[in-house]
Amino acid sequence: MKNTLAGKDIVSINELSKQEILNIINVAKKLKTSPKNNLLKGKILASCFFEASTRTRLSTEAAMQRLGGSVIGFADPGVTSFKKGESLHDSIKIIGQYVDIVAIRHFLEGAAQVASDATNKPVINCGDGANQHPTQTLVDLFTILECQKKIDGLHIAMVGDLKYGRTVHSLAEALQHFKVTLSFIATPSLQMPDYILGNLKKNGIKFNTYEKIEQVIKKIDILYMTRVQKERFADPAEYNRLKNSFILNIKTLSGAKPNLKIMHPLPRLNELPLEIDKTKHAYYFQQAENGLYVRQALLALLLGKI
Ligand code: CP
Repeated sequence: MKNTLAGKDIVSINELSKQEILNIINVAKKLKTSPKNNLLKGKILASCFFEASTRTRLSTEAAMQRLGGSVIGFADPGVTSFKKGESLHDSIKIIGQYVDIVAIRHFLEGAAQVASDATNKPVINCGDGANQHPTQTLVDLFTILECQKKIDGLHIAMVGDLKYGRTVHSLAEALQHFKVTLSFIATPSLQMPDYILGNLKKNGIKFNTYEKIEQVIKKIDILYMTRVQKERFADPAEYNRLKNSFILNIKTLSGAKPNLKIMHPLPRLNELPLEIDKTKHAYYFQQAENGLYVRQALLALLLGKI
C-alpha cells in the first residue's frame, strides 16, 4: 500500500484512516519477523517526555536505534529550560530544528497538538494527559490481531479507569473502524466519557456499560484491564475509595471463553495480580513487546522510509 503517512503527525488516533491503521500493522508485522537494521540510518528522534514512562519512551527510543537511527531527548523536563519557564511551543519549535522527528508525552491534554503546531517535523503523541495515547492503540490493535487473528466479530471489554484512561479513549475511537461489540466496566464515576459513547452510537457500534467483570466474562474475547490512575485525581480520598474497584482473580476467569486474552497497557497495580500471569489468558507482556515493532513501523512510515 502507498505510504500516506510520510511527514504527518500522529496527534490523535482519529486522524488515521482504517487503511492507514492496517498499513502500520502490516509494516510492524514485517519488521517483527524481518528486522531492518539500517532503515533509519542518519535520522534523529527527539524523545521529549514531560511525564513518567517506561514502555512508551523506551520502546520508542529502542525502535529508533534498532532501525539504525539515533535519539536525543529527556525523560525529566526538570533538566530542560522548561524549568526556567520556557513554553512548550518554544521548546518544541527549537528541538524540531535539531531533529527529523519528535515524540512527546505530556501531562496536559492538548500538549501534543501544541507541539504539532510548533514544528513542521512529524510529531508523535506518546500520551497527552487523560486525552489520547494513539501509539498504544496501534500496539493494542496489532496485539488483538496477533492473538485473535481478527478484529471484526470480537467482543472486547474495557475495565477500570475509563474516565481518565487515555489508552481506552483512543482504543474505543479506533475500534469504530471495525465490527465489534464493546463492554465498558467501571464504577459510575469512572465510566467512559459521554463524547466517546456518543461517537460509538453515531457509528453504529454495539456497546453496554457494566459495573462487574462477572457480568460479561463468559461472552468476551478480550479483557482490557486498566489501572486507576492516582495522578489524575484531584482528591486523594476519591482515589483511595476507587483504587481497588476491579481486581481480577482466577475464580472470575473460570467462566471465560478458551480464547479469551487479557490485555493491559501497564503499569499494573492491584487490578492484575501476579497469579494471572500464569494463565493461558495473559497476553500483556507480549502486548508490551509489540510496542517495539509498532513504533518501528510508525517511525519508518512518518519518515517516508517505507
Ligand atoms: N503503556 C504505557 O503508556 O506505559 P508507560 O506509561 O510505561 O509508557
